[in-house]
Amino acid sequence: MGKKEGKSVAFANVKGGTGKTTTCVNVAGYLAKRGNQVLVVDFDPQGNATSGLGIDGRCLQYSMYDAFLSQCQGYSGVPITKVILETDIENLHIAPSVLNLGVAPMLLQDTKDKTGILQRILEPVQRFYDYILIDVPSDAGLFLFNSLRATEQIVVPIDPGIFSWESLEHLKAYCYDLVQNKGHRIKDWTIVLNKTVSQTSQSRKSSQLNPSDEIESSLQERSDPVFVVPYSVLVYRSQQEGLPISHYTNKASKIGKAYAAIATHLTRVSNFTEIPDKEPSF
Ligand SMILES: Nc1ncnc2c1ncn2[C@@H]1O[C@H](COP(=O)(O)OP(=O)(O)OP(=O)(O)O)[C@@H](O)[C@H]1O
Ligand SMILES: [Mg+2]
Repeated sequence: MGKKEGKSVAFANVKGGTGKTTTCVNVAGYLAKRGNQVLVVDFDPQGNATSGLGIDGRCLQYSMYDAFLSQCQGYSGVPITKVILETDIENLHIAPSVLNLGVAPMLLQDTKDKTGILQRILEPVQRFYDYILIDVPSDAGLFLFNSLRATEQIVVPIDPGIFSWESLEHLKAYCYDLVQNKGHRIKDWTIVLNKTVSQTSQSRKSSQLNPSDEIESSLQERSDPVFVVPYSVLVYRSQQEGLPISHYTNKASKIGKAYAAIATHLTRVSNFTEIPDKEPSF
């Protein structure tokens, strides 16, 4: 393989169940379909990106747990090159995860620079890929900090609820902390409003906005790029088959177009918007 740019993107939110893994896997599918070499790094002990790409976590020789151990002082592990697997999808590789990754942070007492572990793990393979997509757990600690330090670009899937505003603020606070403590700045921040439902006939009649629409219009007023992904049964069906939607069906769908648009955005971002440059207001 030749030398690549190796752009890393973290799919992150401190809030759980907002669609991080689903967005990561589906965007990866469209990037790979367009001929990009893509690595999905499953950095979540739940291993959902692993199964979402058709890999059985019970049959793994090595996983991100072993790659993590390779960076823990006093433990031996393996380099990520031994962890990475091909998937059934052309151009798409996975660094799979298993549940014991969850205990890895407890083994770090003698390790220096604990938040730079993922960055160090990825360094040797960065040049082999056009895109490295990191599926981050809904964790507010070590996994999140490591993921943010390994990238300058994040995609934040949110659900259409009031708590989502809080989670956005929390994430921005983390980013601010990274700038302050490590001099590392997240330069592009893309929001994905996930699982939106269209306005009900009742609310149309009463000309009231439903919560999804209300949140969408509030998000549009901000400077961050916002993409809307509709609810779709295709998510369930494709995950059942261990495939991204791009490879599950050739039929055009609203949700497929939404993920393809996010993939296009990630390929186009070159003039980063600088965020956050001031302390959050809480
Ligand atoms: N647009 C969508 N349409 C239908 N179902 C969806 C959609 N997005 C996500 N889901 C479903 O919602 C659930 C949560 O999604 P997902 O696992 O991607 O969230 P997550 O943020 O990665 O969760 P976690 O915090 O546990 O890692 C899953 O069952 C997924 O299949
Ligand atoms: Mg997930």
